[in-house]
Formats: sequence, structure tokens, C-alpha cells
Amino acid sequence: MATGRFFQEANLPEQKSYGNGADGSLLFPVVLSPITNTDITVFEEATRLEKQWLESLLQKSGVILFRGFPVTSPSDFNDVVEAFGFPEMAYMGGRAPRTKVVGRVYTANESPLDKQNPFHHEMAYIPDFPSKVFFFCEEEPGIGGETPIVLSHIVYEKMKDKHPEFVAQIEKHGLTYKKIICDEERPMSTSGRSWKSAYMTDDKNVAEQRAAELATKLEWMENAVKLVTGPLPATRLDKENQRKTWFNHLVLSNTGPMHDSIDNQDTYVELGNGDPVPDIHVIKDCLKLMEQECVAIPWKKGDVMLINNLMVLHGRQPLLKPPRQILASLCK
Ligand code: FE2
Repeated sequence: MATGRFFQEANLPEQKSYGNGADGSLLFPVVLSPITNTDITVFEEATRLEKQWLESLLQKSGVILFRGFPVTSPSDFNDVVEAFGFPEMAYMGGRAPRTKVVGRVYTANESPLDKQNPFHHEMAYIPDFPSKVFFFCEEEPGIGGETPIVLSHIVYEKMKDKHPEFVAQIEKHGLTYKKIICDEERPMSTSGRSWKSAYMTDDKNVAEQRAAELATKLEWMENAVKLVTGPLPATRLDKENQRKTWFNHLVLSNTGPMHDSIDNQDTYVELGNGDPVPDIHVIKDCLKLMEQECVAIPWKKGDVMLINNLMVLHGRQPLLKPPRQILASLCK
């Protein structure tokens, strides 16, 4: 693969090789390093100049990890994100507890880091999701805390091979998601954002309008609200690559009957026709498959990871030894 004038491809032992097509084998993820020692302004300028090439690389590979560039602070990261020029995506309707750090940079997820965050496409539970997600390693994890990634079309293809009836059912009906969120934040949960924060208002009528734009109905409860979203497609077509991706929130969701309690922090999923999702063993199998196919590269301070959110699922491994500070920025 040709490299740019400023970037060279690097190899890491964790990368997976998917060999096919006229381009020969493709490494997942692509890892880019600077050709020579550089400073942050040169990196930004190179990004602007090579934007088209970087975008086509992302379109082929799904993820680019930039390693060895002098990105040292949240504001450096913000400048790098700006250099790509993708429009910013507001975190409207998103469920992770997050705090703005600077510009368009936020904490990744403030739930306790010793908890695993299973594989997901960012905001797959609403119709308006980011096309790209940037992560930045401000503080390298002690032990653990990787952000594993997996190519979603591989998950789709393997699921279709192994469980064709299940896939046909969810594709036919779509999926409806239900979740209770509170008036106040629940920072102990990976999806513990309050409705005021999720819809960026204290006004219930405004929240209802904003939720409706995201195919979500709000049912008010005491000190909380129940969100009902969908039906949404259970898979999506990656038009550029002409293949389907496993773009849903199934492995993070409860398939049983929902209890309407304020203490219930789970996301629930059912088929779009109101029937329960068939056979939860299939979902467990899906999670196993994602774990087999994923790549988990230990973070290095200064790493920037750019993910095509339609092509790739990501998660978070439990942190075994602090510290860890990963920041995020979402693009339309
Ligand atoms: Fe995420």
C-alpha cells in the first residue's frame, strides 16, 4: 500500500490480516507513524494535505491508529480532530456519562474503569449516529483498559452463516430499544446519563421534541423517564464497500421482559413487531465471535485512533491497574 509523504505504515503484532481483493491483504487496523521526527503543527498540516488519502485508507481498513505523533494534550488532540475537517456531532441522545474537556473533545465514558464495556457501534440505539469516532490516549493505562475493535461485516457474515434464521428474523422486523434514564446522572453506569443531559434541556416538552427527532418516545415516570426507540434496522449497509454490518445494540441489551423500576439500568431490546428477540444463546455466541475476531492493541500515550463507526464495533476492556485517560470526539 502506498503511504503519504509524511506517514508510513507501521506493523504491530496484534494486527489481523484479511487477505482478499485486488488490493491484496489488508491489515486491521492500519497503523501510521511519522516518517521523520515532527511537531504537532506539521502533523496537523500533513493531515490537511493528505486528508483524501487518509479517508480512503479509513474506508478500506475501518480503523487508523496514529502512533508516535507528538499529540500530548487534549487541545493538541482537538487541533488534530479539527485538521481532519469532519463536522462535529453533538452527543444528543447519547447515553454514556461524558464531560467536555476542550473544544470538541470529551471524556470517553466515565463509568468505573474496572467494568467491561461490551462491543458496540457508537449510538447504534438511535437513528442518528456518528460516522466517525476519534479516541486519544492522554494517560496510558497501567494494565488492561484496551479499546478492542472488530470489523462488523465479519460479525455479520459469520452470524448469517451460523444463525441464518435468527438474522432473517431481526432483519425482517428490526429492533426496538427501551431504557429508563433518570432525572440525575448515574455515573456508576456505562449508560447512566440523565435525560436532562442526554437531551440538553431541563424542559420535558423540549426533551420530547428532541427525542422524537431520534425516533424515541418518552414515557415519564417519577424521577425518571422510559425511552422507547425504534424499530431501527438490525443491520446496515456499508454502501462504499457494498456489505452489511452488524449495526445493533443486541449484545449490550437485555432480551427479557422489562421491569419499570428507576433502579433498572439495563437497555432492553425486542423485535420491531413487539415479539421477544428469539434465542438469547445466539447473542452469547455473537459476543464470543466478536471476542475471537477482535484486535486489542495496548494504548500508548499520544495514540490517536480514528474509527469508521459504520464499519467497526469497539468496546473497553476492564482496567486492571490505573491510571487511564482516554478522550473522545464524535463526527457526523
Ligand atoms: Fe463507545
